[in-house]
Amino acid sequence: MPGGAVALVVAAGRGERLGSQGPKAFVTVAGRPMLEWSIEALRASPGVSEIVVALPAGAAPPDGVTAATGGETRSESVRNALAAATDGEAQVVLVHDAARPLLTAGMVADCLDALESGGGWDGAIVAAPVSDTIKRAPDGQAVAETLDRNELWAVQTPQVFRRAVLERALDAPPEVLAAATDDAMLVEGAGGRVRVVEARHANPKVTTPEDLALAAQLLGAG
Ligand code: CTP
Ligand code: MG
Repeated sequence: MPGGAVALVVAAGRGERLGSQGPKAFVTVAGRPMLEWSIEALRASPGVSEIVVALPAGAAPPDGVTAATGGETRSESVRNALAAATDGEAQVVLVHDAARPLLTAGMVADCLDALESGGGWDGAIVAAPVSDTIKRAPDGQAVAETLDRNELWAVQTPQVFRRAVLERALDAPPEVLAAATDDAMLVEGAGGRVRVVEARHANPKVTTPEDLALAAQLLGAG
């Protein structure tokens, strides 16, 4: 249905820390390519009108999605994917890392609902309260500060934004895009109001081989 949310899945990373043969998004996890788990959840989401995937050069897109070419950095992959979207009526954009295969339609609905929860939000991002005590040690040794854990959230994807706000935020110089570790950071930097949405279940990012084993276990059990 046109006019829903456009979902952008960024899958163009090399997966250097995982150390796999091919790109990380195509590594098999619990019986299928990692990317397919996220695509399935997005297909099952009534609020999503189009799925765009930013892919590594030469990779074949999953059936029924719009393909985009990945960029040098994650933010450039997001920008390329948004530019490739064909649903011009969609006013909301969801961004998701293919490296988080535990995505569910429930989690997608939670952040789309939160965006419209009143309060004039420009963005709503899935996050988990931190359970560790977090300290700053800028030189890698001396502790400079202990942060108040009660205020801290570990941020994940999906993240949803008003389309015009995200487009403006992504219209930034390459060095700003390269420094951004998520899209909300760019939106915040442009003055946007972003809220957190508590993750309703475990949603780890696959970075290392240990993470891959954990994700496979969680998906296999689900
Ligand atoms: N990503 C992307 N384009 C890039 C870099 C990253 O689409 N130029 C995507 C990855 O495919 C992943 C997500 O952004 O789904 C989060 O990135 P990360 O976990 O760092 O994945 P990789 O960059 O692939 O891994 P690494 O940093 O270990 O190489
Ligand atoms: Mg990376």
